[in-house]
Amino acid sequence: MDIAIIGAGYVGTTTGIAFAHQGHRVVLIDTDEKKINTLKQSTLPFYEEGMEELLKQCIAKGNLSFSTSLKNKIDQAQLLFITVGTPSLPDGVADLSAVEHVARQIGRHIKEYKVIVVKSTVPVGTGDKIKGIIQTELQTRNLDIPFDQVSNPEFLREGKALYDAMNPDRIVIGCNTEKGKLMMQKLYKEDKDKILFTSIKDAEMIKYASNSFLATKISFINELARLCEKTGVNIMQVAKGMGLDQRIGPQFLQAGIGYGGSCFPKDTQALLALAKEKEQPLHILQAVTKVNQTQVQWFMEKVKKALGNLAEKRITLLGLTFKPQTDDIRESSSLKIIDYLLKHNAIIKAYDPKGMEHVKKIYPSITYASTPIEAVMEADALLLVTEWKEIIELDWNRIKLLLSQPYVFDGRNALDPSAMVQMGYFYEGIGNAPSN
Ligand code: UGA
Repeated sequence: MDIAIIGAGYVGTTTGIAFAHQGHRVVLIDTDEKKINTLKQSTLPFYEEGMEELLKQCIAKGNLSFSTSLKNKIDQAQLLFITVGTPSLPDGVADLSAVEHVARQIGRHIKEYKVIVVKSTVPVGTGDKIKGIIQTELQTRNLDIPFDQVSNPEFLREGKALYDAMNPDRIVIGCNTEKGKLMMQKLYKEDKDKILFTSIKDAEMIKYASNSFLATKISFINELARLCEKTGVNIMQVAKGMGLDQRIGPQFLQAGIGYGGSCFPKDTQALLALAKEKEQPLHILQAVTKVNQTQVQWFMEKVKKALGNLAEKRITLLGLTFKPQTDDIRESSSLKIIDYLLKHNAIIKAYDPKGMEHVKKIYPSITYASTPIEAVMEADALLLVTEWKEIIELDWNRIKLLLSQPYVFDGRNALDPSAMVQMGYFYEGIGNAPSN
């Protein structure tokens, strides 16, 4: 099929590459010339393992092209995917200005039937808004061009985006017309058994509900970890025991320093903003965000308690990205940790395999090491912030000799506590008191 993807961010680019790889003809459109030029040169504007190779292949096959002009490319596509960003406004409400702008452009330039698919994460009711915008533009042009609307939320995880794109658990298609549904069925024919058809509004809510529920699991386990610490219970064992119940499941029960990224913090806030607007409070979700906002503070208080005064202490951060296998630092807990340490006049050195350039732009004055070994030299304490494999698999016996004090605070419960203690470390994780 011929597809235009409008918005070459993380979701748009991944979706475009996945469709092109399946043999569809895709044009990826973005007003950001720099981004489009980067993509044209077969380079990804972000890090995602294996994706640049696929980008190259799709371009070479002639299935994937790029443009800065929706107007010039709109005629060649049957399906128009909207994948622009919906960042949070200061009050948590999703900023729909980019989505609305694209809808206006579509209304101004379509000449024949199109299926308009919203993949951006948008609040319930946005589908109706988009329809209204397109219809208004068509009325201004005195035209009555038919179009179908679809909400097709994205469930990709950064760092595993290609796998998720090729092996979706489910494909949610919110659509109120038969023709629109048939077009989407044709598009996803390889995975047609995984399609769940719903109304547009239901699909919009499924996206927010899914992310909010996953965030709930994380905050639940993080808050419980605080209690486990006070009661001599090991949260890792608790999570394992809970996760064996199939109704609960083992995933997203990894206690840590909180969730970050471009999705959970933004989407929970947006759902809360909708709840406020509708005067229907979501008490659980309110608590979820509160736990997440205080989790780093709770962790750092532990660090401070163990080390005493942090002023002039040399603290090393291993990992800066919001999770491993990405260069994304948006809403990463590392940023809150840096703020805390700066406020307490600590001397910070940091290492991350992919995220340092981005953090450097926000905190140019802290020291960045080019290897983990360089980062840990003479440190008074080491904070494991992101569980990169290369960090977990360091030679911890050797690291101990390089530190000035053998203090390790594991913000992801990624290391083996008893092995660390045996090596002679003062080790603290998240709610993982040794079981007795
Ligand atoms: C999340 C969802 O998992 C995707 O399904 C969704 O498509 C995406 O948001 C989106 O809306 O675009 P992502 O933000 O890439 O994906 O990252 P996750 O793997 O969900 O992790 C989010 C955060 O939770 C990370 O900071 C991670 O460290 C943290 N986390 C995750 C925990 O602290 N504990 C866990 O057990 C799991």
